[in-house]
Amino acid sequence: MNTVAFYSNTGQSKAIAAYLASQLGFPLIDIEANFAEHYENLVLVFPVHCQNIPDIVKDFLKNATVDNLTVIATYGKMCCGNVLYEIQRSYQKNIVAGAYIPTKHPYVENDGTFCDFDKLKPLVEKIKEPSYIQLPKLYKNPFANIFPKQRSRFGLKIQKNKDCDGCNLCAESCSFGAIKLGTTNHGCIRCLRCVALCPKKALTVKLKLPLRLYLGKKKLAKVVIYT
Ligand SMILES: Cc1cc2nc3c(=O)[nH]c(=O)nc-3n(C[C@H](O)[C@H](O)[C@H](O)COP(=O)(O)O)c2cc1C
Repeated sequence: MNTVAFYSNTGQSKAIAAYLASQLGFPLIDIEANFAEHYENLVLVFPVHCQNIPDIVKDFLKNATVDNLTVIATYGKMCCGNVLYEIQRSYQKNIVAGAYIPTKHPYVENDGTFCDFDKLKPLVEKIKEPSYIQLPKLYKNPFANIFPKQRSRFGLKIQKNKDCDGCNLCAESCSFGAIKLGTTNHGCIRCLRCVALCPKKALTVKLKLPLRLYLGKKKLAKVVIYT
């Protein structure tokens, strides 16, 4: 089976996955709504979270068997860590291509989304004519493995305002059961899916100073492709 699969909270990875699916003629699936199985060609698109591979993506990779894997990590122009190398080392050796793609960071207002889709053409060509590659090891902050989920949680607060009408769409959309009627619990990783989805714009975000200072740092906006 040939598939483009994605994990996406605010739509950035999904948009890239949808583009690749249309170019390749492969079906597009959301890994949260599908069981992993055997794939002949699999293209997997997901966001970098605190310089790490999200747990949902790790679980999918643990259960999937793949002949030819392409891995694409979207990142919010801060630091992409070393996630593609980590996938090759820990889960899957048969990698035919990889990419790091800078996209809108959900914590940064008015940040630009990725729209330079022509840059992804070499990936499409390589997926059509697969041969295996070795991904390079990149720099990852040595502190990045220390409580990654807790770091984003302490950096910002999700607040509910008076426009909440109790529709509870936030709870329905949350992968972690981490919000109910606009109030988050300890399972929240601050992916901001609920904030992006709320039809009443009743959820807002308050960044704490250390995270604000970190996000103000010089941005890294390079598309890196391995074929
Ligand atoms: C919890 C969390 C942690 C993140 N960590 C990083 C990071 O370490 N480096 C980075 O550049 N972007 C980081 N981002 C930004 C996302 O990787 C980026 O915006 C991604 O494209 C979002 O994809 P999505 O809309 O498909 O979920 C993080 C976003 C979230 C929600």
